[in-house]
Amino acid sequence: MQPEYIIIHRQIAPYVAQIQLNRPKELNALNLQLMTEVKEALKVLDADDGVRVIIISGNEKAFAAGADIKQMAGKTAMDMFNTDQFSTWDAIKKTKKPLIAAVSGFALGGGCELVMLCDMIVASETARFGQPEIKIGVMPGAGGTQRLTRAVGKALAMEMVLTGRFITAEEALRAGLINRVVPVELYLQEAVKLAEEIAALSPLAVKMAKESVLKAFDSSLEEGLHFERKNFYLLFASDDQKEGMQAFVEKRTPIFTGK
Ligand code: HXC
Repeated sequence: MQPEYIIIHRQIAPYVAQIQLNRPKELNALNLQLMTEVKEALKVLDADDGVRVIIISGNEKAFAAGADIKQMAGKTAMDMFNTDQFSTWDAIKKTKKPLIAAVSGFALGGGCELVMLCDMIVASETARFGQPEIKIGVMPGAGGTQRLTRAVGKALAMEMVLTGRFITAEEALRAGLINRVVPVELYLQEAVKLAEEIAALSPLAVKMAKESVLKAFDSSLEEGLHFERKNFYLLFASDDQKEGMQAFVEKRTPIFTGK
């Protein structure tokens, strides 16, 4: 079925796909259907050998202004529990290929949380990040208190979560939340450039490296080191390891096949 609230570009560059959130009138508010469409698209793209890196973007005005408040407003706790919207987020989190968020304008609430679920973040100078849920009587629910705190530290995370203050792209860069800031007309281009750079590398090594970095967030150092070592050894079973090292020896550019 054609998605209604997202646009999928399977190849915006070699091996690079883009999922564009597309509810512009509502500033890309993340209703349940939109999130389900993102989940389904990621599942397909993650299994597609012609795709190695996936960009998630919105438009210039908004990446996403949060979960759809109008959809949530009348819900009871049991409605929320039974809908179990976070199973969708859990599935998105399982994407093995690198996710790059290309952010312009508002990335608020669930929008900021979706950005933080991505592996790298390229922002335009106009990007604004925030967790304003406190202003509508709730709090972040899709990782905001956890991922933001890990990314920017307690002081700024506490301030953002308790006051709802938005931070600028520059402040987000200084705080370590995002990777780079560029003029608005270049943010997508810059995200594609970063994606292309990664897409030229071994997709197997990239996936295992991503998995290993993420392991650092939910394991002890010893466990994480052990996990890393296993993935490192495992890559010696790949053609890409042979090709990568042989190409270095022969002073040529490697051609990675993902095998
Ligand atoms: C539903 C939203 C929305 C949202 C904006 N809109 N954000 N609809 N849910 N989160 C709608 C508005 O109602 C309006 O539609 C249209 O988008 C344009 O928004 P305006 O407010 O007129 O634009 P502006 O004055 O530029 O203000 C932009 C804004 C403001 C500062 C981003 O819209 C805002 O504060 N939005 C809510 C941000 C927020 O609180 N996010 C957290 C949500 S809770 P109409 O038809 O009325 O003109 C959350 C929990 C996550 O994310 C839990 C896990 C998923």
